[in-house]
Amino acid sequence: MYIYKVGVVGAGTMGAQIAEVVSYAGLPVVVADRQDDLARQGVAAVRRIYQARVDKGKMTPEQLEEKMLLVGASTNLEDLKDVDLVIEAVPEDLTLKQQVFQELDRLCPRSAILASNTSALSISALGARTGRPGQVIGLHFFNPAYAMPLVEVIPGLATDPHTVDDVVGFAESLRKTPVIVKECAGFLVNRLLSPYLNEAVWCLQDSGLSIKDIDQDMVSFGMPVGPFALLDSVGLDIALEVARILHRSYGPRMAPAPLLEALVKAGRTGVKAGHGFYEYGSGDEQAGTQRLEDLVQQFRQLSGWHRRDWTRARPLLAMVNEAVIALQEGVASARDIDLAVVAGTGFPNDKGGPLHLADQLGIDQVLRQLDEFMQSLGIRFWPAPMLRRMVDAGFTGQPAGRGFFQY
Ligand SMILES: NC(=O)c1ccc[n+]([C@@H]2O[C@H](COP(=O)([O-])OP(=O)(O)OC[C@H]3O[C@@H](n4cnc5c(N)ncnc54)[C@H](O)[C@@H]3O)[C@@H](O)[C@H]2O)c1
Repeated sequence: MYIYKVGVVGAGTMGAQIAEVVSYAGLPVVVADRQDDLARQGVAAVRRIYQARVDKGKMTPEQLEEKMLLVGASTNLEDLKDVDLVIEAVPEDLTLKQQVFQELDRLCPRSAILASNTSALSISALGARTGRPGQVIGLHFFNPAYAMPLVEVIPGLATDPHTVDDVVGFAESLRKTPVIVKECAGFLVNRLLSPYLNEAVWCLQDSGLSIKDIDQDMVSFGMPVGPFALLDSVGLDIALEVARILHRSYGPRMAPAPLLEALVKAGRTGVKAGHGFYEYGSGDEQAGTQRLEDLVQQFRQLSGWHRRDWTRARPLLAMVNEAVIALQEGVASARDIDLAVVAGTGFPNDKGGPLHLADQLGIDQVLRQLDEFMQSLGIRFWPAPMLRRMVDAGFTGQPAGRGFFQY
């Protein structure tokens, strides 16, 4: 099915960015929100994204106006009665999203696909509230959508394969990189990123190194930003909520680092609060919140500090191990897992993604290191059973000519 017209419900951060991406590809898009001023603010946000392109000389003011002609604002979902695809981007609340899906199901053409930009909620549960679960799907853009190439495409239990094909074709027409992900908590990128970030927090508590030192080391590995700068920009409260959802689904290996919980409790939620791991703005904003150094110190005292030297292997192998578990579960192919992590997190392209990295390090070495971490740090490093099977069968990675990939 060709998509001629798109609706976006929710004109907030993601809704506006998605509307920009859709209009940039030349498709008309209606952005709907609860109130007129909110819908207008969403359209104004689309204009600002285009204006930044004009300011950089990447677009003319005339081209900007042409694109803006494709973007309409609405407060009435009835205005979506002639769209082929709706992308819902209202806040992350299952009840609210289910209400929106019920309403869309009633108002949109019978043939229309209803997609959700949810980061973590069940697509199957959204589809179940409609009379067209075969046409309900997850379409997860990353922030900022105009810059991030990855789009996770998540079929629910009842999603029709045609819907998957149509949405993959649509994402490609937006010049995005779609990756099909089997429905699971955190989908693919957040599921792999969360243990990496969480482990960096554990390392801060254990290593005696500063956030700056750890961030710099991960940047020298090739990450676009260090884990603490990333946590601050995502929002520590959001990262903690994701970690809690993953913990509920996957058990102990995803337990949020206590220091992360303490920072959120202390109101240090990141850039938006003026302080998270780093300080932003003037020193006055520090008043009323505990200093990071004091919180770290408290945790070291509480847990009887066993100092451990920093190694980037800890956060990286936490991600690698989760990638292998996801591969075992058939969440995506090895190629797609690596593609998604590179496109969705900025994992260094020359390392190829977590599974290519494991092949480069040697699967036997990865297994040995995970076993060691499990002994010294606990059950969260329990190696994925597939690693042992691979080692036993001689699939030890690049040096052997075969691992997750053939060489
Ligand atoms: N912010 C991110 O970095 C990010 C990244 C990927 C996915 N997501 C997901 O995208 C979705 C939206 O997140 P966001 O950060 O853009 O939220 P947001 O709070 O910035 O925007 C949500 C918008 O939805 C509107 N809204 C609420 N109820 C509505 C209704 N009944 N009908 C129409 N509009 C309604 C709100 O007024 C608001 O403008 C969430 O599911 C979130 O998990 C967010």
